[in-house]
Amino acid sequence: MSLVRKAVIAGNWKMHMNCAEALAFSQSFRAQVENLPEDRQVVIAPPYLAIPTLSEALSGTPVAIAAQNVHWEEKGAYTGMVSAPMLLEHGVTHAIVGHSEPRKYYSETDEQINMRARTAQHYGLIPILCVGESLDQREAKETERVIHRQVEQGLEGIDSGRLIVAYEPIWAIGTGKTCAAEEANRICGLIRGWVGNPEVIVQYGGSVNPATIDDLMAQPEIDGALVGGASLDPIGFGRIVNYQVPVGAG
Ligand code: PGA
Repeated sequence: MSLVRKAVIAGNWKMHMNCAEALAFSQSFRAQVENLPEDRQVVIAPPYLAIPTLSEALSGTPVAIAAQNVHWEEKGAYTGMVSAPMLLEHGVTHAIVGHSEPRKYYSETDEQINMRARTAQHYGLIPILCVGESLDQREAKETERVIHRQVEQGLEGIDSGRLIVAYEPIWAIGTGKTCAAEEANRICGLIRGWVGNPEVIVQYGGSVNPATIDDLMAQPEIDGALVGGASLDPIGFGRIVNYQVPVGAG
């Protein structure tokens, strides 16, 4: 972590937590961010329906609210979708785009992901663009090629000064297999080079937990984490956002 880049730890709740559960989480999580060090920011992406509840329950804390996706149009005949202006109404500041789950289950393309990222920025939201290779691609030594393409196509026309990129190897998501910190560091460094802006925030995501966060954050190219399963527990996520890096590391 460079001295200029501010770390961003983001929780992605996926399809977990109704409003009552989000409220209970926030009551416990508030204490965890009371003494949050200044060098980091915390973001939580709840399901759309829990956004108003969580946004209100965490107001006055340093926690920002993200959406798990965002549509590329402002409004229209897009059944089931949510637009950027709708998110802004509830204090949302970030939007995840290009997560491997919508890429896989809803066949999202790099072109659509790029349109989502552009629209997000147009409305002042910070896109968190997720990129990462599958196990087959890694074994076929295609990791760099795949991620380079995702970065290039996903970021066309994007202002890299208002952007977060999350390196999420698909084989590490929800599997309990965290990518080795040195390898995650290597790929995050490549991504930063491809984005072409030394200040861009690059996160690592994939089975991050309280036991692995300190090592990951000690890596110089890793500026934060995108945390799925481990962000659902307020105490465990509290430990993650309060990660500790030995003096001199990072
Ligand atoms: P995980 O999910 O931490 O549960 O592996 C990460 C993600 O999908 O963003």
